[in-house]
Amino acid sequence: MVHFSKKKIENLDKIYRLNLINSCTGYKSANLLGSIDNEGNTNLAVFSSITHLGSNPAMIGFVLRPRTVPRNTYNNMFKLKYFTVNHINVHDIKDAHHTSAKYPKEISEFDQTNLEAEYLDDFIAPFVKSSKIKLACKYLNEYDIKENDTILVVASIEGIYVDDGILQDDGWLRLDIAKTVAINGLDGYAETKLIERFEYARPKK
Ligand SMILES: Cc1cc2nc3c(=O)[nH]c(=O)nc-3n(C[C@H](O)[C@H](O)[C@H](O)COP(=O)(O)O)c2cc1C
Repeated sequence: MVHFSKKKIENLDKIYRLNLINSCTGYKSANLLGSIDNEGNTNLAVFSSITHLGSNPAMIGFVLRPRTVPRNTYNNMFKLKYFTVNHINVHDIKDAHHTSAKYPKEISEFDQTNLEAEYLDDFIAPFVKSSKIKLACKYLNEYDIKENDTILVVASIEGIYVDDGILQDDGWLRLDIAKTVAINGLDGYAETKLIERFEYARPKK
């Protein structure tokens, strides 16, 4: 077994530490955030930190990296308030990863990849057409994480679009049928397969 002490972690090569720390917490969600500015420039970017915050009201959150460089997704959602969250499926991983490249705001990742923008029910922000599970979201608030200059963005879920065959009778979404991938670290994309689903767990009598 390899052991990394805190001191060893601190002294690691930068890229090695980045890979190690980004993968040591397990698989992460894989989503594309779609947004638009008030001049009509669209933006698409991959995010692995989107997580469920609560179901009533329906809320999500994600961690945004330090704003020391322009953050188009954040600027757009901060100004226009609305953005989309689109599950990345197995067929789109290469293009999805490419959206992390730093394009200026005038250049849309929709034009630089095969990912197609789709507008649904007058929602202002673009969805990803090929994504099988899509959320319409509204920026609500942000919280500073002072220790590393990141922020936690909190958003409400305003609408959910699910392709046929994924939604189960009790509201549960079968993500492996949607071919939604998981992210391993910062550059690894993994397929998923459901093992089993269990009853609500209660203490043993
Ligand atoms: C796999 C992966 C996951 C990422 N997750 C996040 C994340 O959770 N938060 C974040 O701020 N940036 C994340 N990024 C970086 C953004 O995708 C990148 O900064 C992108 O250029 C942002 O684009 P924008 O400036 O157009 O918003 C991730 C990048 C990759 C490759």
